[in-house]
Amino acid sequence: MSYIIRPFKPGDEAFLWEMLYQALYVPPGANLLPREIIYSPELSKYVQDWQKEDVGFVAVLESTQIQAGAVWIRLFNNNNQGYGYLNDETPELSIAVLPEYRQQGIGTQLIVHLLENIKNLYPAISLSVSLENPALRLYQRLGFEIVHQVDNSLTMKKELK
Ligand SMILES: CC(C)(COP(=O)(O)OP(=O)(O)OC[C@H]1O[C@@H](n2cnc3c(N)ncnc32)[C@H](O)[C@@H]1OP(=O)(O)O)[C@@H](O)C(=O)NCCC(=O)NCCS
Repeated sequence: MSYIIRPFKPGDEAFLWEMLYQALYVPPGANLLPREIIYSPELSKYVQDWQKEDVGFVAVLESTQIQAGAVWIRLFNNNNQGYGYLNDETPELSIAVLPEYRQQGIGTQLIVHLLENIKNLYPAISLSVSLENPALRLYQRLGFEIVHQVDNSLTMKKELK
């Protein structure tokens, strides 16, 4: 499957909200989460008021132009923390690939592309992942390390310098 990775552009907002929903981990056998959950204050801040200065990339299939997945980062602050918040200088990564396109390397390539593009912008990036989420292996392979654990929720960090 051939795809390109390009930066977010105006008009991608609807896909970004879809990706936010797809990024939510649902353990095998559990009920799907209601779609409205992405508009809760804890989650909507990962997408709300997307600015062109925000950094994110979309994987687009070359044959059909279908958007298959996305990775993006957002900076939070002490008064408005994300789940993987470490400090005001460390943006938090979010990623999802549509279910039918998973396990084919797109997620890996999205993160590699992101890291290459932000390595001179930030000292490190973080993320939050559930202990049972198979994505944990992907993050460890790409050099993220666990820095906090609260129950089943892990915060991971990758130094960029
Ligand atoms: C995580 C995700 C973006 C990876 O994208 P991908 O294109 O499938 O990734 P790749 O093909 O490059 O790499 C496969 C790796 O993804 C992880 N993975 C596989 N299936 C997964 C799933 N259903 N959910 C989460 N991660 C998964 C595994 O680490 C896998 O490596 P492994 O086969 O050695 O175990 C994608 O699976 C996804 O969107 N999952 C659901 C949303 C999610 O969990 N997002 C992360 C929240 S922290």
